[in-house]
Amino acid sequence: MLQSPRRIEFVYTPTGVKGVDKLLSDLGVPQGYIIYLLGAPGSGKTTFAMQFLHHGAKFENEPGVYVSLDEHPAYLRAHAREFGWDLEGLEASGKLALLDGSPIRSLPGETKLGSITIGKRDFSLVSLIKWITEAVKKIGAKRLVIDPTAVFSVQYTTESDRRFAVMELLQAISQTGCTTLLVSELSHTSLDRTYQFEEFLAQGVIIMRKIIRSGGVTRVFTIDKMRVIDHDTQPHPYRITQTGIEVFPTELAIP
Ligand SMILES: Nc1ncnc2c1ncn2[C@@H]1O[C@H](COP(=O)(O)OP(=O)(O)OP(=O)(O)O)[C@@H](O)[C@H]1O
Ligand SMILES: [Mg+2]
Repeated sequence: MLQSPRRIEFVYTPTGVKGVDKLLSDLGVPQGYIIYLLGAPGSGKTTFAMQFLHHGAKFENEPGVYVSLDEHPAYLRAHAREFGWDLEGLEASGKLALLDGSPIRSLPGETKLGSITIGKRDFSLVSLIKWITEAVKKIGAKRLVIDPTAVFSVQYTTESDRRFAVMELLQAISQTGCTTLLVSELSHTSLDRTYQFEEFLAQGVIIMRKIIRSGGVTRVFTIDKMRVIDHDTQPHPYRITQTGIEVFPTELAIP
């Protein structure tokens, strides 16, 4: 199990996502926490993750690394521009690195390293960890995003292999000291769901849902878990606006 950062008192960092820090005692998340960001397709996970990195790099002096395992960085830059976030400017000043992790999907089944032949999965994990740690070191990153983690974990055919790989990845991330968002899918639209193994290991779990009701679709934001610290666990409505995600902490979204 991942250990919480060894500090007697936490140092908090604002997420920068409107309304979210209010749910976290007006402080934000403890620095160094690894948080799963779970959501339905199109719920705004990538937008949330970009907003978190943009805010850190621009306003908190916390450089960030974005490991994109599905979208090309050019798409992310264009997506961010829609919300008024200049990612290129932050990249140029060394405050942000966008890593294109999509080659992880196209590696051959086996790769020869000298006399050793290693399978695709091991190579992918080793590569991913190496990319992340090098990029974090290079710009002195304090924030990290991997979006989405499914592309990485789907490569494992047995559940125990996948769990070991996830644990290894989390351990490596934890050693970077970065406050991290791991973006993952949520297939349920109701509040009733099965917990994923990763959620027990992570220090925090944030959920972005789309609830379909007779009146239409409601977007619902919940902080499901934030280890040790006081937080609001109620479901709150959120919107994707022209300036990014906005959560409404004083309103309740009871399905
Ligand atoms: N400028 C904008 N203003 C308002 N809403 C927007 C804007 N840009 C995108 N959206 C909405 O955001 C949603 C997609 O956001 P995003 O890509 O962050 O979601 P996601 O959860 O990462 O999706 P996926 O599951 O495909 O990875 C879309 O449903 C779209 O309606
Ligand atoms: Mg996305």
